[in-house]
Amino acid sequence: MRKLIAANWKMNGSLAANQALLDALRTGLGSEAPACTVALCVPAPYLAQAQGLLSGSAMQLGAQDVSAHEAGAYTGEVSAAMLVDFAVRYCIVGHSERRQCHGETDAMVAAKAARLLAAGLVPIVCVGETLAQREAGQTEAVVRAQLGAVIAALGARTSEIAVAYEPVWAIGTGRTATPEQARAVHAALHEQLQRAGAAGVPVLYGGSMNAQNVRELLAQPGIDGGLIGGASLKAADFLQIISAASVN
Ligand code: PGA
Repeated sequence: MRKLIAANWKMNGSLAANQALLDALRTGLGSEAPACTVALCVPAPYLAQAQGLLSGSAMQLGAQDVSAHEAGAYTGEVSAAMLVDFAVRYCIVGHSERRQCHGETDAMVAAKAARLLAAGLVPIVCVGETLAQREAGQTEAVVRAQLGAVIAALGARTSEIAVAYEPVWAIGTGRTATPEQARAVHAALHEQLQRAGAAGVPVLYGGSMNAQNVRELLAQPGIDGGLIGGASLKAADFLQIISAASVN
């Protein structure tokens, strides 16, 4: 399966910093399209800028969240149709930072994924356990429940999503899941997807993936790409990750 490498810029960037980063990525990639799919999930205010700077490049535009509603009196929210206006292709939903800081439930995440599919976008559905849940032996049950809510809502259209396994304790901490830990969870998620008739869905790993550990992680069966936060903000590091994903 062609690997999917998605950058999650989170709440970082500025017009000047984005321009420098995107210029460096375009220069680094050169004229040849990478042998993996690359998506950049940028903050909503920068979608227009990123759309312009990415035009003609092989990199796809992504967003970090979407409203579960179609349109109307939802102050501060961004609809899937608005994302379409900027040629957004991918959108993260259910990131643990939104589940933790904004109280997003499995049902809300499923509703957002459904909105994205209805608008023709690809949801990147994030699942992952906290450290306490891992230590209590609940990892598989937690991620299966998170993914199960999305499968229940999407039915046959589950085959059109991407999934990201992001152990909460590994995000932004420099503490990566070991290849064995990641492989076990990816196997469980793939099995669940297969049973739902969605065997082709890619399952990305996220959580302190970087230029040093990317090769070992992507070499694991069932790790179909990465969702990269901190290391996606440094052009040299992100280019190394893209290149590692292009040979596996
Ligand atoms: P990180 O973030 O790579 O900085 O750990 C990943 C994510 O939260 O998507």
